[in-house]
Amino acid sequence: MQVLQERPHIERALVEFYAWAARLVEHRREEPADDLISALIAARFEGDKLDNPELLNLVLNVLVGGVDTTQSQLAQALRLFAEHPDQWELLAREPDRAPQAVEEVVRYEPITPFTARIAMEEVSYRGVTFPEGTVVLVCAHTGNRDGESEGFDITRQRTGKPLTFGAGPHYCLGANLARAELQEALRFLAPHLPGLQLDGEPVYGTIDGIYGLDALPISWTPRATADSAAPT
Ligand code: HEM
Repeated sequence: MQVLQERPHIERALVEFYAWAARLVEHRREEPADDLISALIAARFEGDKLDNPELLNLVLNVLVGGVDTTQSQLAQALRLFAEHPDQWELLAREPDRAPQAVEEVVRYEPITPFTARIAMEEVSYRGVTFPEGTVVLVCAHTGNRDGESEGFDITRQRTGKPLTFGAGPHYCLGANLARAELQEALRFLAPHLPGLQLDGEPVYGTIDGIYGLDALPISWTPRATADSAAPT
């Protein structure tokens, strides 16, 4: 398994990351700035401050959870739009559709296809009994769709919430930030990449973690060409 071969690298990277984060936290303790780490150092939760391991783990969670996720979701968004040029043109013409477009992207192609839970007690659901201790994988990819025939459509009006950001007490801490980042990115890119299309087969990542793309060959029409080709 690749992860086992990579294990020494992963462990070394973690050690280096914690050392880096510890220096950063120390630095912010001495010189607070207008940033998240300084706010976390100052914050009190039920009267108590966070201790150092809690702080370091939060920094790790926010960085790891916040970078790979959003960039992979953006790559999947571009792939979807490259496959649906009419939707991309619509977004370029009507950038205020960006929030709706992001909802449709995270619904249709979640980069977190599965979230896991462990049953703390026996649970029965639709006639199936899950004994205590069962690991339950919730499939956002299927749960987000009403049926296989349902296509990608940014004009779709939906009321249900996607499972992409999880649910319950561990609901993604960065969901709003991710949505805002994706909206900004799509709003900016749609008018700048006219004629977006696939320029080869995308290479899909695995679905057992963050479901990103290892390669996304795309092409688009350079702005000047697109402008001069536009009807006057
Ligand atoms: C498209 C982007 C993102 C997706 C699809 C995503 C998805 C998820 C999912 C599925 C979970 C687990 C929820 C559960 O088990 O119920 C989660 C947790 C979390 N996410 Fe995100 N995430 C994204 C972006 C971000 C960003 C930008 C940040 C921070 C800047 C972030 C920080 C976290 C943290 C800290 C948790 C753990 C929450 C907890 O356990 O209480 N995520 N995310």
